[in-house]
Amino acid sequence: MRVVRKAVCPGSFDPVTNGHIDIVARASRLFDEVVVAVGLNQSKSRRLFTPEERMEMLEKACAPFSNVTVAGFDGLLTSFCEQHRIHAIVKGLRAVSDFDYELQMAQMNSSLADVETVFIPTSPENSFLASSLVKEVATFGGDVSGLVPPDVLTRLTQRLAERAAAGEEQGRER
Ligand code: PNS
Repeated sequence: MRVVRKAVCPGSFDPVTNGHIDIVARASRLFDEVVVAVGLNQSKSRRLFTPEERMEMLEKACAPFSNVTVAGFDGLLTSFCEQHRIHAIVKGLRAVSDFDYELQMAQMNSSLADVETVFIPTSPENSFLASSLVKEVATFGGDVSGLVPPDVLTRLTQRLAERAAAGEEQGRER
């Protein structure tokens, strides 16, 4: 019987960046099936996009990879892995500063369930890339067109314009 090797690429993806896509693409070459799992209950307070929007953007960005699907998950990542019979978690590592926390999570996850974490080093051109920085740079009018997929750029520009207009509106009302 052939074993299907499955992996999960978890994250908040608020929004997905070219760095995430690079890791997903490389995971899709290492595993038979890859599930990109969007954490729905993460407490980072100010999300720019709803879980549905984040998943839509990921579905579009991952469309070229035939063995990649997108799902949402609530609760523990290890519970999601158990439900989907996944034994590998794929994480991108940008720098040594990522390592401490990622190692702690990997060890915690493997203590909770039969899962291994596989670290993929981020491509050098993406090593500075983070969703939070993309949002900050875009908020102040910086060019992020080379850092996110075109659909994400469109939505990001639109959402930030909506937020700015809502802020101005509130300012006028006060
Ligand atoms: O993109 P992020 O914010 O770095 O993603 C973090 C994520 C979603 C991978 C992490 O917070 C997570 O796995 N959350 C699920 C809850 C959980 O299992 N917590 C215990 C981690 S050891």
